[in-house]
Amino acid sequence: MKIQSERVKSIQSSPSLTISAIAKEMVARGEPVIDLSIGEPDFNTPAHIIEAAYQAMLAGQTRYTAPAGTEALRQAVADKFRRENDLDYSAQQISIGNGAKQLLFNAFAATLEQGDEVIIPAPYWVSYADIVRLNGGVPVVINCPEQQGFKLTPQQLQAAFTERTRWVMFNSPCNPTGMIYTREEFAALGEVLLRHPDVLILSDEIYEHIALGNTPFVSFVQAYPALKERTMVLNGVSKAYAMTGWRLGYAAGPQELITALNKLQSQSTGCPSAISQAAALAALQGPQDFVREATAEYRARGELVVRALQGIRGLTLAVPDGAFYAFPNCAAYLGKRTPQGQLISTDTELVRYLLEEGKVATVSGSAFGIDGYIRLSFATSRANLEVALGRIRDTLASLSQ
Ligand SMILES: Cc1ncc(COP(=O)(O)O)c(C=O)c1O
Repeated sequence: MKIQSERVKSIQSSPSLTISAIAKEMVARGEPVIDLSIGEPDFNTPAHIIEAAYQAMLAGQTRYTAPAGTEALRQAVADKFRRENDLDYSAQQISIGNGAKQLLFNAFAATLEQGDEVIIPAPYWVSYADIVRLNGGVPVVINCPEQQGFKLTPQQLQAAFTERTRWVMFNSPCNPTGMIYTREEFAALGEVLLRHPDVLILSDEIYEHIALGNTPFVSFVQAYPALKERTMVLNGVSKAYAMTGWRLGYAAGPQELITALNKLQSQSTGCPSAISQAAALAALQGPQDFVREATAEYRARGELVVRALQGIRGLTLAVPDGAFYAFPNCAAYLGKRTPQGQLISTDTELVRYLLEEGKVATVSGSAFGIDGYIRLSFATSRANLEVALGRIRDTLASLSQ
C-alpha cells in the first residue's frame, strides 16, 4: 500500500532537528552531551509576555480569530515596521502565521505553479529548499562561497534568472553563516531585480535584532524601497523574544499576496493560536529591554566562541555579523582518520564524530547547502560553550593523517 506522496518522499526531515533529537536521546541515556545544534534562544520568554497570555485567556481570548490574525496584532506589527524599520504598511498588508516557517509555506503554496523556480543563495536555512519542493517548486541553489562573504553577488543573481523564476530569497542576518547584507549590497541586488518585473522577493529578517558587531541590520525594503510592492518581509517573535514554542510569525507585503496567504490560512490552520497572538501583542508593544539584554549576551558569547575557534588549529572562521551561529570551515580535517582508523571524509561524518566522541552536537555545512563547514549555535550558556569548545578542540586534535 502506498502511503507517502512523491512530494513528501522528495524532502528530508529537518537535519538540525534530527541531530538535536539524537543529542537529546544521548542525554536521556546519561551521556554528557552539549547541544550546539539548536536554533532557538535558551532564555525563557519574558514574564510580562507570559502574564499577558494568561490574562488574555482569563478574559476569554480563547476562540478562533480572523485567519490573518487579530486586528490589534496586525496593527502592532505595522507599528513595529514603522518604528524599527521606517516602513509603512497598513494592518491589511500583514499576515500572522504559526511561525515564520508556516508563512514561508503559505507564500510558496499561494504562488508557485509546478516547476516554478525559487532562487536560494547557499548557504541557506535548511528548510527553504524543502518547503519550495513541497509546493511543486524547484529550488535553484546559488553557491555563495566564503571568499565572497557567503553573499550573493549581482552578477550571480543576474545569471540565475530563467523564464520560470518566481521568487528570490534573502536571509539577513543569515542562518547559518551570520552574515548581514549592507544597505549598498542589498541596493546592488535590488538594481538587478528591478529589471525582472515578474519576480517576487522574500526577505527573511527573523534574526533582525541580533547584530553582533559593527554591521547594522537593514531590511531589504529599507535598502531598496522601489521593490516594496514585490517583496514579502518575513519576521516573527521566535528569536527576538525567546518565543519559539509559541509559534508566531508575521509577514508584510503587497496586498494581493497577503490576501492570498490569508485565504490559504483560512483553509489550513484557520488562524494562529489566539493566545500566542495575545502574547506577541505584549511582546511588540511592551518594554524592549529583553531584546537588548539578550543581544548583549549573544555578543559576549559570540566573542567567546570566535576567540576559541580562532585558537583551534586547522579551523578557519568568517566572523559572524549577526544571528547566534558560528560557521567555521573544517575542510582541513576532512580526509583524516580517527584513532580507531576510521576515515572522516565529509563534514557530516565529522559532525557525527564530534557528537559520538566529543559529546558535542553541531550541524554539518552540507545540511545548509555547502560542504566543509560546521554550524555551532551559541544559544546556550557561556559555561556550556567553554566546555563544548574545549571538547571540539581535543576531539579534532585526535584526528590524524
Ligand atoms: C532563517 C530562519 N527563518 C525562519 C525560521 C523559522 O522561525 P519560526 O520559529 O518563526 O517558524 C528560522 C528558525 O530556525 C530560521 O532560522
